[in-house]
Amino acid sequence: MSSAAARVVLASGNRGKLRELSALLAPLGLSILPQNDFGIESPPETGSTFVENALIKARHAATRTSLAALADDSGLEVDALGGLPGVRSARYAGEHATDRDNLEKLLHALAAVDRGERTARYQCAMVFVSSPDDPAPLIAAASWEGTLVAAPRGTGGFGYDPIFVPLGETLTVAEMPAERKNALSHRGRALAKLRAALTTRLAGR
Ligand code: IMP
Repeated sequence: MSSAAARVVLASGNRGKLRELSALLAPLGLSILPQNDFGIESPPETGSTFVENALIKARHAATRTSLAALADDSGLEVDALGGLPGVRSARYAGEHATDRDNLEKLLHALAAVDRGERTARYQCAMVFVSSPDDPAPLIAAASWEGTLVAAPRGTGGFGYDPIFVPLGETLTVAEMPAERKNALSHRGRALAKLRAALTTRLAGR
């Protein structure tokens, strides 16, 4: 990526993630443009891992815009459900499910699970490609361990945040200030790793 091409398309249509990633990327000095600005729809997420899906999304956005692209793929793995909803987190209750639908389905699935067995983790894979055929995509991943409470609490964040209490915390993520979530979260820490790799790559070009 040349310095004149410091525009990066963000391959996400999820407004909660866009808000978080824009705040996290602000200090990087790159101009981040959501793919919606280019009329790009998200491609089908056909991968079986978070990394595969993030690569699919980043390459798709880079192909359609001829810009560098950044994508993340994330989800919640629930131990009592054998890792579900995992890569299907956004579509857990159906193809066009809302966050509310997904949350309700998960609460229903966990109704008979004891408190001590409601362990879960958020996972995030973050990918940067400088072009659609970038031979060395930058890939970073992080997870965030926690437990799931039985009744939703708080109005912040998005997705499963009203029932996710991170390890060592007492508040759900939806009850935390956004800055605290960004400092601790799977997405915030994956992005910090990616930012370090990106800084190294930009310095070496
Ligand atoms: P993706 O857009 O395919 O990466 O799907 C991500 C989905 O995982 C979201 O729609 C949420 O259901 C869930 N998810 C990922 N990260 C978070 C988070 O930080 N808070 C709450 N839910 C999340």
